[in-house]
Amino acid sequence: MKLLTDKQKAAIDELLEKMTLEEKIGQMNQISPSIVGGFDVSFEELIEMMTDGRISKEEFGRLMAGAKQDFHDDVNRAGGLSSVLVSDPEVINSLQKIAVEQTRLGIPLIIGFDVIHGFRTVVPIALAEAGTFEPELFEKTGRIAAKESRASGIAWHFAPMLDISRDARWGRISEGPGEDPYLASVFAKARIRGLQNDDENPENYVAACLKHYVAYGACESGRDYNTTSMAKSMLHNTYLPPFKAAVEEGAATVMASFNDLNGVPCTVNNYTLRKILKEDYGFEGFVVSDANAIRECIIHGIAEDEQDAAVKAASAGMDMDMGTWIYSKELKSAVESGKLDITCIDEAVRRILGIKMRLGLFEKPYVTEEEMHRYDKLPEEHLAHALEVAEKSIVLLKNNDVLPLKKTAKISLTGALADMPEEVLGSWAISGRADDCVTILQGLKNAGADVSYHPCCGPEGEIDEAEVKAAVLDGDVIIAVVGEFASMSGEASSRADISLPGRQQELLKMLLDSKKPVIAVLMNGRPLALSWESEHVPAILECWHLGVQMGNAVANVLFGDVNPGGKLTCTFPAMTGQCPMYYNTPKTGRPASKSKFTSRYLDAPLEPVYPFGYGLSYTNFKYSDMDIQEEKDCLKVSVVLENTGDRDGSETVQLYMHDVSASIVRPVKEMKGFSKEYLKAGESRKVTITLSKDQMGFYDDDAIYHLEDGRFIIYIGGNSKECLKQEININF
Ligand code: BGC
Repeated sequence: MKLLTDKQKAAIDELLEKMTLEEKIGQMNQISPSIVGGFDVSFEELIEMMTDGRISKEEFGRLMAGAKQDFHDDVNRAGGLSSVLVSDPEVINSLQKIAVEQTRLGIPLIIGFDVIHGFRTVVPIALAEAGTFEPELFEKTGRIAAKESRASGIAWHFAPMLDISRDARWGRISEGPGEDPYLASVFAKARIRGLQNDDENPENYVAACLKHYVAYGACESGRDYNTTSMAKSMLHNTYLPPFKAAVEEGAATVMASFNDLNGVPCTVNNYTLRKILKEDYGFEGFVVSDANAIRECIIHGIAEDEQDAAVKAASAGMDMDMGTWIYSKELKSAVESGKLDITCIDEAVRRILGIKMRLGLFEKPYVTEEEMHRYDKLPEEHLAHALEVAEKSIVLLKNNDVLPLKKTAKISLTGALADMPEEVLGSWAISGRADDCVTILQGLKNAGADVSYHPCCGPEGEIDEAEVKAAVLDGDVIIAVVGEFASMSGEASSRADISLPGRQQELLKMLLDSKKPVIAVLMNGRPLALSWESEHVPAILECWHLGVQMGNAVANVLFGDVNPGGKLTCTFPAMTGQCPMYYNTPKTGRPASKSKFTSRYLDAPLEPVYPFGYGLSYTNFKYSDMDIQEEKDCLKVSVVLENTGDRDGSETVQLYMHDVSASIVRPVKEMKGFSKEYLKAGESRKVTITLSKDQMGFYDDDAIYHLEDGRFIIYIGGNSKECLKQEININF
């Protein structure tokens, strides 16, 4: 996205001059169409019916397809709408037509939509994609999604989701890049470049929306929408960095999160919105609330009524209301009665108009017939990208000489998830289509596998014992596709038990009883507690929800056409009770050890089952000859990496640091860099990663950044646990 030109700035000034107060407030109003009928019960009742299982998801979808919607055309015509959450290009064009041709000032709408991991070409969930450790891929995912959605008239993505999440119980961990602030910051910058790239042609980019600002991933006990409470040092060192990085990269918009932070909901939080984001980071775009969040301030108990909520939000720098209509109803009288300063409104409108101009919406508000159908058939280039990301996201967790499989292997495939097209899409893939999805069964068939299929059981429901009997008789090797339905992660999908849902562990036991080799292929949207599985199942592939090309990617890895190189972006605890569990934990005075009076549980292992950054390969990598060269502004940390096996493969070399003694307690390890390397069998290479001295500091509890002289331990290795290390003394 190009920056505003002087001409555009002047045009905004001119518009602001002409706008009535109502029209200005209209620019701060984002809505979803209201459901006004088409079925016998209310929309709210219908949602409840689906949630409590009275109707299936499919039935809900069928009813919704026939639902009557009110797009509030009259309000639009009066200049009362700024943005609508819709995705149908015909509808979008008709809404734009009203805004552009029938309102007094002809200001176009900005159409926003949840495009979290691909629009039509759905790629792996972000938690998986980040594990490729390849910023070029993160960027390309953004570019493809931008082009596809823009052709439908959607110029604003409610993405990327940048919540650091360290608690696997939280369902929304699936939507973001995981537990590490450094990796999340690299992901954030690359995604912004992809979505908002600085092409001349607005057809190729969209406005990103960083969410959920901020600390939502720290919701207490991993329960969605729950309270968050933390010191400013933790906020600035851990939860803010990806947002800061994305703002530095030019992110256009930000969505405030639902949670309260230290008692103040992020929707009305002066400190996070005005002070940090707008003043300290110099953010020039606009902030939107999360859905219905302004009204929820009344339920939080920090606003008396709707007007109080509106005034608190607008004063705190909340530029746009998503979904409640409260700004429309309340801001005018609030300004007239002196409760709200008009400058809050002018500032918000200036920011919103600025983004609309930068998106080229004034010049090209509509999409053509050709554009609407441009991606009806997914282009080869997009599919190739989806396949590449999916293959590279797969993490080999365990392999006792079972994988890769020979092409001639007689495979018995089990698990209902292996043949459910829509499940490969994962959470928040609203614009993905089941028809485009390749299931694991289909992927194996595409690869020419000799495969027989027996679903046996899914994440819910009983085990079909007859099918299990048939399955164990059928193959030389058994693949069990187990895990979670897509709906078990994402929003409002926290789980109090993160082990394999339902009877799937029992299924694995029954399959193992056959004494045939069993491969667990996991499909899930969060870390699972795999203590038992890691001990008993000879091979485990973490395949997440990989998007439209899932089946092909999994088959390619199973057969060794692709050597897996994905790494975990989040810690896998042994059991739920260890949550939150993450590698970069602050040092206690009594670090966990076998002795009793240390920071540990009596009934759980000290270590996670799989640490952050972990992932095996079909080849082996050896690290040696670590070296650190200190330069004026940085350290050059190098290591010799050797592919000691007989296959080509990739390895993510990871750099961590520990500040041995500082004025506040520092994490036991912090990632500070990485480098993804592709090595031929037998090849060895010196890999050097630069650690800038600026990166070696931390924020204190007054949000002041410190670089403190002293001893540091530098680590380099293939995961957060197994590293070479060296100590160094630094005087900044
Ligand atoms: C979610 C957001 C999303 C918004 C609009 C909310 O419930 O928290 O992530 O962007 O809905 O769909």
